[in-house]
Amino acid sequence: MAVLNVLIYPDDHLAQVCEPVTEIDDALRAFIDDMFDTMYDHEGIGLAAPQVDVQKRVITMDIEGDKTNQIVLINPEIIASSGETGIEEGCLSIPGARALVPRKEFVTVKALNRHGEEFTLEADGLLAICIQHEIDHLNGVLFVDHISKLKRDRIREKMLKLKKQIARAKE
Ligand code: NI
Repeated sequence: MAVLNVLIYPDDHLAQVCEPVTEIDDALRAFIDDMFDTMYDHEGIGLAAPQVDVQKRVITMDIEGDKTNQIVLINPEIIASSGETGIEEGCLSIPGARALVPRKEFVTVKALNRHGEEFTLEADGLLAICIQHEIDHLNGVLFVDHISKLKRDRIREKMLKLKKQIARAKE
């Protein structure tokens, strides 16, 4: 169990298309536990592996944040979607920034669980939005890629300043 370092935008490692998982073993399950630790430590409701610099198609989610309904999605695929929705989204890799992002209202996602078993999940509301946000991460897409260049550049400047502060604090 460990809290991992979360990459902050802009970072090339957040902009890559991640590889599908080919082996679901104890090492992967230990990594998933670390992802949950990291997510709760940062008070997030979802985390994608590339955010902790692992370019694999793995997502952890807990939209209530009370550990009663933890969701793991390995190699997820949205197989159906409908409706339009959108909320002010945030991201652990873009701390403090929020923006309205258009999303599908309903999604059906197919994935493997931590034991390698395939399952299908139908989601709406916050869960559906979270699934789309996290799957975007696996394709190197962040919520800022869905907003205007003007807004994105403003957030980018803020994050570059934040990264400098963090680097200075570590010196
Ligand atoms: Ni995010």
